[in-house]
Amino acid sequence: MNLQEYVKLLRSRWITVAVTILVALAAAATYTFLTTPLYQASTRLFVSTSAGGSVSETYQGNRFSQDRVVSYAELLKGETLARRTIDKLGLDMRPAELQSAIKAKAKLDTVLINVDVLDPSPVQARDIANALSDEFVNMVRELETPEGATTPDSRVVVEQRASIPEKPVVPRTARNMGLGLLVGIALGIALAVARDMLDNTVKKREQLEDLTGTGLVGSIPLDKERRKQPAISFDNDNSAIAEAFRKLRTNLHFLSVDNPPRVLVLTSSVPSEGKSTTTINVALALAEAGNNVVIVDGDLRRPTLHKYLDLVGAVGFSTVLSGATTLNEALQKSRFSGLTVLTSGAVPPNPSELLASQAAKSLLAELRAEFDYVIVDSTPLLAVTDAAILAAGADGVLLMVRSGHTKSEQIGHAVANLESVGAPLLGAVFTMVPASGSAAYSYSYYGESSPRQPAARGKHSSTGQTNPTPHEGD
Ligand SMILES: Nc1ncnc2c1ncn2[C@@H]1O[C@H](COP(=O)(O)OP(=O)(O)OP(=O)(O)O)[C@@H](O)[C@H]1O
Ligand SMILES: [Mg+2]
Repeated sequence: MNLQEYVKLLRSRWITVAVTILVALAAAATYTFLTTPLYQASTRLFVSTSAGGSVSETYQGNRFSQDRVVSYAELLKGETLARRTIDKLGLDMRPAELQSAIKAKAKLDTVLINVDVLDPSPVQARDIANALSDEFVNMVRELETPEGATTPDSRVVVEQRASIPEKPVVPRTARNMGLGLLVGIALGIALAVARDMLDNTVKKREQLEDLTGTGLVGSIPLDKERRKQPAISFDNDNSAIAEAFRKLRTNLHFLSVDNPPRVLVLTSSVPSEGKSTTTINVALALAEAGNNVVIVDGDLRRPTLHKYLDLVGAVGFSTVLSGATTLNEALQKSRFSGLTVLTSGAVPPNPSELLASQAAKSLLAELRAEFDYVIVDSTPLLAVTDAAILAAGADGVLLMVRSGHTKSEQIGHAVANLESVGAPLLGAVFTMVPASGSAAYSYSYYGESSPRQPAARGKHSSTGQTNPTPHEGD
């Protein structure tokens, strides 16, 4: 993966990164909040020896003190002094507890020792630091006075006494939050990359073309408005989604140029991939270019075209097939010019048999003769056989693929289903492509290049000869 791909990946998975950062920051804040504040009081001790008068004796004495401070630092952290300090102050703690709160550090090449004491109470921190230092002065005197002598070889003075600390040194809020941010960023990126690696949904053009063995003929952006109003009124509409449907209309010219498809079945692998919405708008885009278009609701199980277009659903495809009504009675004019609709009709008990009947084939042939384009909405391929039956009798099939939702195995099975009935798969269409994301990117690139020639499938193979489609106005 190169840098550009990483940037693209992070842009498309920014929510994962942002949530991980927020969680890490929240964890850091909770840790900070739950940490008991500790105050630090410090003293400084000075070590000296009783030196002689000469320069060399003074030097010797100084060296002696420097050697001593290292041992003194250890004694300051020792159990004996801790016990003596606790006794002196009457503290309610064990020596080990106090020892863990003491830091003593000898400054290199000096005769100074810094003593730090941590305690939840600022006053107690000061008292311990001072008492400990005073006790240490006594302790050194006892230790360093040779038996029988009256003066010690070495002496410690509390050069700087402790005062009450104003602010706690623990928790270190800024450091904790900074660390939380860094950990959050690193984890977020790792998680985004891991999710991308484990993600087997399809959103890249190349991936889709490999799976279907055909070209990508359209990429319909996600447009929330379509949930309220599925049909786009193409008049003066230059929105991204209207342009995407116009581009799809143009690309249909490139498909099977020898035998321009006029009866198209739109299907998908799984439910809710945008078949019905796309059916309506592909038809409207074709109607905008001056074509006389009919859409047929071939989804006899969960029909939606009549709802999406505010039409009557009781009379339609199934009622014509059963002989209850004639085709002309069942066809309904939509509110859009150039668009006629054959809704599904009453839901029949045997949709697959009905669709496979000779009557269904004749009905589609009749519509083909009457209209420039017959666009058939259908069911998902992996759920029932209806779509495959319709697809087998069509000039061409377009496979809707919901970007970032449909899994590669599902597309593989759907394509195999179409192949098994010899249906002519003309191309794939990405639907509900998010505004930013790899699919959106791949399509903008597609728009600038010529579309990949679809692979020959089924009975309608393309030979590459140009044969402009009649009735097309763009
Ligand atoms: N381009 C789009 N942008 C936003 N939402 C969309 C788009 N296309 C379809 N939808 C929404 O997605 C949902 C499913 O769409 P639609 O009914 O067209 O899918 P379908 O494949 O026909 O479903 P089914 O398998 O149930 O027949 C609907 O709520 C619809 O409004
Ligand atoms: Mg549908």
